[in-house]
Amino acid sequence: MSARRREAPAPAASPRPNEGAPCRAARPPPAAPGGAEQEQAPAAAPPAPAAAMVGREKELKIRFVPGCCELVEEDVDIPSRRVLITGATGLLGRAMFKEFHENNWNAVGCGYRRAQPRFEQINLLDSVAVHDIIHDFQPHVIVHCAAERRPDIVESQPDAASQLNVAASGNLAKEAAGVGAFLIYISTDYVFDGTSPPYKETDVPNPLNLYGKTKLEGEKAVLENNEAAAVLRIPVLYGEVERLEESAVTVMFDKVQFSNKSANMDHWQQRFPTNVKDVASVCRQLAEKRMLDPSVKGTFHWSGNEQMTKYEMACAIADAFNLPSSHLRPITDCPVVGALRPRNAQLDCSKLEMLGIGQRTPFRVGIKESLWPFLVDKRWRQTVFH
Ligand SMILES: NC(=O)c1ccc[n+]([C@@H]2O[C@H](COP(=O)([O-])OP(=O)(O)OC[C@H]3O[C@@H](n4cnc5c(N)ncnc54)[C@H](OP(=O)(O)O)[C@@H]3O)[C@@H](O)[C@H]2O)c1
Repeated sequence: MSARRREAPAPAASPRPNEGAPCRAARPPPAAPGGAEQEQAPAAAPPAPAAAMVGREKELKIRFVPGCCELVEEDVDIPSRRVLITGATGLLGRAMFKEFHENNWNAVGCGYRRAQPRFEQINLLDSVAVHDIIHDFQPHVIVHCAAERRPDIVESQPDAASQLNVAASGNLAKEAAGVGAFLIYISTDYVFDGTSPPYKETDVPNPLNLYGKTKLEGEKAVLENNEAAAVLRIPVLYGEVERLEESAVTVMFDKVQFSNKSANMDHWQQRFPTNVKDVASVCRQLAEKRMLDPSVKGTFHWSGNEQMTKYEMACAIADAFNLPSSHLRPITDCPVVGALRPRNAQLDCSKLEMLGIGQRTPFRVGIKESLWPFLVDKRWRQTVFH
């Protein structure tokens, strides 16, 4: 992987990240290979705010003329603010990449098994590959979304989960500090035990399951290696999915749709379903605030504000699509299978709100937008969207 990166073409020949193939890390302009601002900044300090939103770079483009095509060198605009996103192939990472890319950031996404062809393929356990991409790209901001986030998988494969959630996060934080990049580590409400909500950033965590423990250890590893980093804790996510199983919210859709079969739904755990687009917007706002104000760092909370059990989410989904919900059965007992879950880990988001940062999509709006491609009843889709 690192060898492939070293052989990558020089900046002038790399594809423009705003077009077609945003996979290659577009290097900073050749005039400032290390970024002048990084040379002046102490190791863990953020880079100085980018003076301009865009810079000029030379780029090779293919020009088609009748009968042939030719390569020409053209000046192009490249956003001067650079962001590296880990886990860009995942549920949150995809929304994160889109949010930064569409808001005038030079965004490079990393994935692992699903990386090709769109993103850089980096195994975060490979510290050489991580070092190389960060030193090549010199990001101002890194949003670290990659993790093993399925509690039951973490319980069954604790060592692998700890390597990714803890060790790789600490290493990434160290590398970010080395180039003065602002790291945002995505964490979870599962660091709390759910017995006395709502939780402020200063409240003492007490994770009930191994997933929550590894994410909390990941937070500590990040802040120990990079005191200027940020931790953003978020609750259960939903959004545009590749498969319904990608989110604990969207996975309920088939049970809702197939109303000829009764379905048991948890009505014990209180959740705050949060749209990935909102989390992505919050991260971008946080990054932009930090580029103006170096004191923006530490732990933050963000969450949707509609409290629902899974049963209530399923009923809301049925309602949004005018489907019956009488086959859904609320189960009010504490679940006995799988990893332990907090009853109510509601996050207090006032710290970010005080900074003027936030975005909340109503659940009914967001879930309809996310699920309509999976609707079995095509007639409904035709009526509403055509
Ligand atoms: N989903 C939720 O409900 C939820 C709730 C609270 C907090 N969070 C946190 O939010 C973040 C994003 O979660 P998500 O739901 O978007 O996760 P996800 O969809 O499961 O995506 C996980 C990402 O991690 C990448 N990855 C896995 N192993 C890797 C490795 N060895 N090297 C590099 N990348 C690797 C995956 O890449 P490939 O697929 O390409 O291999 C994928 O992009 C996580 O930190 C999670 O703890 C999630």
